[in-house]
Amino acid sequence: MIIDTDTASDDAVALLMALRHPAFDVVAVTTVAGNCELEQASRNALYSAQLCGSGVPVHAGASRPLRVDPEYATWFHGEDGLGDQGYPPPHRGVAAEPAVEALVASAERHPGVVLVTLGPLTNIALALERAPHLPDLIGRCVIMGGSANSVGNVTPAAEFNLWFDPHAARAVFASGLPIEMVGWELCRGDAVFGSDDIDRLRSIDTELAHFMVDCNATALEANRRQNGDQGIGLPDPTAMAVALDRDTIVRRSSHHYVEVEADSSLTRGMSVVDSLDVTGRPPNAEVVWELNVPEFKELVFAAATEQP
Ligand code: RIB
Ligand code: CA
Repeated sequence: MIIDTDTASDDAVALLMALRHPAFDVVAVTTVAGNCELEQASRNALYSAQLCGSGVPVHAGASRPLRVDPEYATWFHGEDGLGDQGYPPPHRGVAAEPAVEALVASAERHPGVVLVTLGPLTNIALALERAPHLPDLIGRCVIMGGSANSVGNVTPAAEFNLWFDPHAARAVFASGLPIEMVGWELCRGDAVFGSDDIDRLRSIDTELAHFMVDCNATALEANRRQNGDQGIGLPDPTAMAVALDRDTIVRRSSHHYVEVEADSSLTRGMSVVDSLDVTGRPPNAEVVWELNVPEFKELVFAAATEQP
């Protein structure tokens, strides 16, 4: 698995899910600006890996979108992206190889690799420019991004990852990558980590379990303020759950043509899903419509539980 991430609090939980899953080998983590500036995202990815005892290489990538100016989400995740808990600096730094080169090299070394994207798609778009044959090397491309015919979280129309770099998102969805789209709407409703779920994490009583709750402290409050959901919204972990065990986690999905708006000020970053297939355009994404929420949550709890 290769994970591309703008590591803030929900990304961190998703990283722990992958790094601690016995059936997957994370061969590279690449970082991108989004939730926070690139350096902070890299630091948070390194810290998350350190908590798991993982030495996975972390490669720093794009510090800004392809064309638009960066607008970070520290208001949601905290100034440091991890709930401003004062975590110490990680013991190691990023790898020398930049993210785009590492993405291509890792895919060439591991044909059929699962690529999971948890942030803006700038690195992926740059990798496609560098290696147009990349779609032939990627087995699955699970994208936390968009909102399938549903409300956005950063504008009424758009989800943050696609909005932050809409030109990259448009290019990635048009690239031929085997996309599985996990929209922001899927982390809402009963998928929110409410007080019972938070209590269960606390009762696991491991460093990882407490980290999962603590680093999402500001996200918990921001979620309540922004959309009224009473609990921690974990969009990246929903996408990671699909990547780790799609047959169990995906209750309903279908293939459709999806295009991302990149130029309109009103609908910048909107994932326009042709769910009725009225465009006649061939499907370019498998859109996930419904998750097995209890099983999704069990994957998060399992990641927080130290193996015997
Ligand atoms: O819109 C939610 C997405 O934006 C998540 O990936 C979150 O971490 C932020 O990157
Ligand atoms: Ca993210």
